[in-house]
Amino acid sequence: MRKKIVAGNWKMNTTVQEGVELAKAVAEKAAQTPENVGLIIAPPFTHLCCVAEAVEGSKVQLSAQNCADHTSGAYTGEVSAAMLKSVGCQWTILGHSERRQYYGETDEKLVEKTKLALAQGLGVILCVGENLAQREAGEHFTVCQEQIKNVLYNFTAEQMANIIVAYEPVWAIGTGKTATAEQAEEIHACIRRTLAEKFGEQVAEDTTILYGGSCKPSNAKELFAQKDIDGGLIGGAALKADDFIAIAMSY
Ligand code: PGA
Repeated sequence: MRKKIVAGNWKMNTTVQEGVELAKAVAEKAAQTPENVGLIIAPPFTHLCCVAEAVEGSKVQLSAQNCADHTSGAYTGEVSAAMLKSVGCQWTILGHSERRQYYGETDEKLVEKTKLALAQGLGVILCVGENLAQREAGEHFTVCQEQIKNVLYNFTAEQMANIIVAYEPVWAIGTGKTATAEQAEEIHACIRRTLAEKFGEQVAEDTTILYGGSCKPSNAKELFAQKDIDGGLIGGAALKADDFIAIAMSY
């Protein structure tokens, strides 16, 4: 049985002090959530050390929002996979649409980043998803398939055990417009088929595929009830401990 996960992407929000408070509140309430639902929070880099301490002893795992595409050296402003590992991260998000859109993150770069993250023993939450123009042009299936192929087809079935996919339609991120459960499910099923073509049925069945894009307590239940939706990557609603926990309780 594949893992159910609810992950919070805090993006560029909260000061360290606010972040520690939020993490503590999440950790405290985490015990109420179903045992088979994993919780991950992804605060900004500056918060990771303190937040690692704040969630210690709870089931909450720690993720970064990005990592460098080089191991170490003269890359001013970058943070390596080894650095993330050293502060207690278990995961890193990679390929978020905001990184693809504003910071020129390409599938080629994501292959490098994924390699380096996995080599350090970090799990990877790889984001894929179409933008509004692509959806309106009917290209949503192909765009997601291509992103999956371009990045994940460079890895092995064994490595897939440490990779989560997050489907995030760009038009639904932070807009209040959620994909309908049917719209999300058909892409999730397509992503799973694309994984099966390369890695076989079993790996595809075992891969956790999250939905992200205006997921909140009021719509999580319907989304999570879909056969191929294994949880959520939550932005805005992850900044309130009660909402984040309520989403995890939707299982
Ligand atoms: P949102 O963001 O929940 O605020 O739409 C999701 C994400 O970008 O991961």
